[in-house]
Amino acid sequence: MGSGKIMVIGSSNTDMTVVTRRHPAPGETVLGGHFRMGAGGKGANQAVAAKRLGGDVSFICKVGSDLFGDNSVEHYRQEGLDVSDVIRSSEASGIALITVDESGENSIVVASGANADMTVADIEAVGDKIREASILLLQLEIPLPAVIRAAEIAHDSGVYVVLNPAPACDLPAGLYDCTSLIIPNYSEMKLLTGIEPSDETSAAQACNILHSKGVGDIILTAGAHGCIVSQEGKGLVRMPAMQVKAVDTTGAGDTFCGALCVALAERRTLVEAAGFATCASALSVQKYGAQASVPYRSEVERIYAARHDGSEF
Ligand code: RIB
Repeated sequence: MGSGKIMVIGSSNTDMTVVTRRHPAPGETVLGGHFRMGAGGKGANQAVAAKRLGGDVSFICKVGSDLFGDNSVEHYRQEGLDVSDVIRSSEASGIALITVDESGENSIVVASGANADMTVADIEAVGDKIREASILLLQLEIPLPAVIRAAEIAHDSGVYVVLNPAPACDLPAGLYDCTSLIIPNYSEMKLLTGIEPSDETSAAQACNILHSKGVGDIILTAGAHGCIVSQEGKGLVRMPAMQVKAVDTTGAGDTFCGALCVALAERRTLVEAAGFATCASALSVQKYGAQASVPYRSEVERIYAARHDGSEF
């Protein structure tokens, strides 16, 4: 897989989170508990995860020329990410307002700000860096035209393009054509295919729709139910999740995506990589915060080895 370099292009947010017994109903006020502010954004979470887990990672995002933007860039630098191509916008930096209930489930509203200002021209300006990567990891918290252009540039140069279609929206055929691996969760899969992947048969039907659109590799994530790996022509592999007590699921899917790309860059198979990513996300849900909960390599290796000894995959 080429250079082993992972490029992540996506959003950067500051997450403002209140932990509460239950989410408010529409029109209702509930009194919550602790407030936390921390680094977030699906793109940034995935980049930090890939870096902490041992990847050679560049991160491209757009932040405002404000205090939140300054703090974010400094934080990414301290994480060891290559941030030489982070772009500044005249829009405010992205913000996410999050509530987490006592089961660890979150609900999130994002004010995209500078993230929504990422343009096709911004992407073309970093085209050479995209071409140098082995893996390009994308999500949908920046404008779709920018995502599509990045995927096209990467695909035309033989870069393995990984798309986490979150938050989900209808995708054009051209983006599927350029996507090597797609990682939807249950609700994203339903939106993309019109099929509720509620059991193995319906999951297979949904995966086949995405295969027919040109995506060779699929991982359907299902939180506490684990994930399903579908490779065209090879059938499905079901992988159980680890049984852990979740306190906050925010960013767990992002940790999964970042970890998966690290394992793929190290030339593990897709199924092995999904096993590694499953361990990483199981660790992340046991702590609060998005990037605050991303584990380090040694922690993941420890539980990956233990799980492997039980020959679960
Ligand atoms: O996936 C979790 C992320 O979604 C949060 O960090 C928040 O910023 C939103 O982008």
